[in-house]
Amino acid sequence: MNRKLSHADNLIHQFDTVLRTLVPKAAQPGRPSPANAQPEALLDDDQRRDVAGLMRVNHTGEVCAQALYQGQGLTAKLSETRVKMEEAAAEEIDHLAWCDQRLQELDSRTSYLNPVFYAASFGLGAVAGAVGDRVSLGFVAATEEQVGHHLEAHLRKLPIDDKRSRAVLEQMRVDEAKHERQALESGGQRFPLPLKWGMRLVSKAMTKSVYKV
Ligand SMILES: [Fe+2]
Ligand SMILES: [Fe+2]
Repeated sequence: MNRKLSHADNLIHQFDTVLRTLVPKAAQPGRPSPANAQPEALLDDDQRRDVAGLMRVNHTGEVCAQALYQGQGLTAKLSETRVKMEEAAAEEIDHLAWCDQRLQELDSRTSYLNPVFYAASFGLGAVAGAVGDRVSLGFVAATEEQVGHHLEAHLRKLPIDDKRSRAVLEQMRVDEAKHERQALESGGQRFPLPLKWGMRLVSKAMTKSVYKV
């Protein structure tokens, strides 16, 4: 009976996380947004549209991260690292909420494609988790590395005055580097370069589509 209950609890928790991830404005951050401490910049329409495109890409990246952790949590053993992984997933919720908040401030919205990316990342996470902990942790590390590259590029592209977006991305960069390090230290396999190039191609396709849609 207990087992059944905990299984049902787990399903409800999963469903709750899916909703929080996909429904705009539903994610509640554990930490306040770093943007709150910064002044709003005067952006013209083109700049605002461009920044919104970048923040939308970052938001979808966080949707993918959340789905990856969820999918992996379902199938991976991760007996020693589960707590750390759950902490990381909670930090991804912060990132998700901060990007969402910034998009609202810019009079914009999250991507319509998020459910598609959520489903794909959830599936990949579940498969990696089923293969084994070394692979699934390696996948987390490789994904975080990829996200780190994105963040670097976006920090270069942001208008110099947009301190609010910058503060969000800078804190995300710190957190993602920590997630990558933790995944490797926990035994994650370093992915070979060709696999990373493949991941880069997929993320390029994501970036291009989500920037607009
Ligand atoms: Fe993140
Ligand atoms: Fe992360």
